[in-house]
Amino acid sequence: MGQTEKWWKNAVVYQIYPRSFQDSNGDGIGDLPGIIQRLDYLETLGIDAVWLSPVCRSPQDDNGYDISDYQDIDPMFGTLSDMETLIREAGKRGIRIIMDLVLNHTSDEHPWFREALKGRDNPYHDYYVWRDGKEGVLPNDLRACFGGPAWEWVPELGQYYLHQFSVRQPDLNWESPKVRREIYDMILWWMEKGVGGFRLDVIDQIAKEPDRMITNNGPRLHEFIQELSRETFQKGDLITVGEAWGATTELAKRYSNPDGSEFSMVFQFEHIGLDQQEGGEKWDLAPLPFRKLKEVLGKWQTALYGCGWNSLFWNNHDLPRIVSRWGNDCVYRTESAKMLAVLLHGMQGTPYIYQGEELGMTNARYSIEDYRDIELLNMYRERIAKGYPKEQVMESVYAKGRDNARTPMQWDAGPQAGFTDGTPWIKVNPNHQEINAASQVGVEGSVFEFYRKLIVLRKTFPIFADGRFEMLLEDDEEIFAYRREDTESRLLVVCNFFGNTVSRPISKLCGGMDLILTNYGSSADSPSTSCETLRPYEARIYYQHK
Ligand code: GLC
Ligand code: CA
Repeated sequence: MGQTEKWWKNAVVYQIYPRSFQDSNGDGIGDLPGIIQRLDYLETLGIDAVWLSPVCRSPQDDNGYDISDYQDIDPMFGTLSDMETLIREAGKRGIRIIMDLVLNHTSDEHPWFREALKGRDNPYHDYYVWRDGKEGVLPNDLRACFGGPAWEWVPELGQYYLHQFSVRQPDLNWESPKVRREIYDMILWWMEKGVGGFRLDVIDQIAKEPDRMITNNGPRLHEFIQELSRETFQKGDLITVGEAWGATTELAKRYSNPDGSEFSMVFQFEHIGLDQQEGGEKWDLAPLPFRKLKEVLGKWQTALYGCGWNSLFWNNHDLPRIVSRWGNDCVYRTESAKMLAVLLHGMQGTPYIYQGEELGMTNARYSIEDYRDIELLNMYRERIAKGYPKEQVMESVYAKGRDNARTPMQWDAGPQAGFTDGTPWIKVNPNHQEINAASQVGVEGSVFEFYRKLIVLRKTFPIFADGRFEMLLEDDEEIFAYRREDTESRLLVVCNFFGNTVSRPISKLCGGMDLILTNYGSSADSPSTSCETLRPYEARIYYQHK
């Protein structure tokens, strides 16, 4: 079947976390005019679309994932007219803007919630999820994703409301047709403004049935999504990507059904959860089981071929930096950042690059006062109160804290990394003196130029989007290798995932093929280095036209 008829199957998406990208007015917070200033950088990189984390009006309890007005821009980020300029200016450079839709909950400052609090018979009351009760006797044991109970008592109403995230993020009641209609109208309004797509925040949590302790994948989930898609997205030519922590390959086939009835694709997190203790939380660290990683990524590649579509990502604003996580952020930072890029971008699906990933930006190690994230700070307090040793809690913060991804973009070696003239809302990583855009753009051998090449390859060879996936050397403890194949060509990707030099019978796999990309540079690939030897984090892509 034709896998390439949709533009987003050949696209590469770049995620911007606006508050940390570029500040234009010295208040220490990134903003829309700042993004506009940096569009040329994005054009140079070669990406097709930008996913903006939320920029709508918000009290910023969860950095914008708590929206108080879906149809206005938060003054901290700019104005609606800045947003229109951004859409237009990006469009001139062939870049579409993807907005983040937070539809599971609103802010407690949203007018709907303010109305809802006024009384049980207020027309907005059933926009949210309420349970009668007594103070101190929770409806049940449901926990919020950011810690503590998922229920909050409102004495004036004698009721609890549901919040799967912070107390300030009350859950919307998708059972109400009025709520759904309001949402559709709002989305159509943004489509009119020319946005190129949407990322749907925690979309698998909208169809909750709290009395049955159901949060993810509720019984009505796909019914709601199909209605949403029919009423909105299907009226345009959009890219839509749902965030679905609870997705299996079977569910993902529904979400990304090629008939277009739901979304273009989902973010699934099976690979992302591998380095934590079984039954534990993400903070309970465990080494990455490498063969399991191959098994999981391979399974997703195979299961969705021809009947769904993958998103490909290592990073986002909720995850630690991949080079620090599964690469090596000291001696082999450049090599391992490139290897991880090859591994990901060689697969079938739409690749997402998170700001700074294209520079090989790393995790940060700050003292606790310098962190800002609500999830991280709640976890810190809870675990310290439970008696965990401070060093252990900090190790979890360094490894998994969301602020690792949220430190300011490193533009140059100057003060505040060129991010702001003022005091940044969160400290810049001191390593911006070595790791920054100014020292990489146009510089041969840089991580940035490598990402650029990968994007060019994807645009040049249709096999990146089309080819069937086959895992090779499945049981190998150090090498991640796979083949892609379509009617016209073959592709071979070989990655040494670790820091040792190893030998493998690569010539058996790459016979007749041309080496089209390597992270050790072509000159280093001199005849004296046999193709059987893979240096630390070495990655190669071979290609053959049949
Ligand atoms: C998603 C977002 C995350 C946010 C949460 C609640 O997981 O990516 O940043 O905190 O939803 O909206
Ligand atoms: Ca600003």
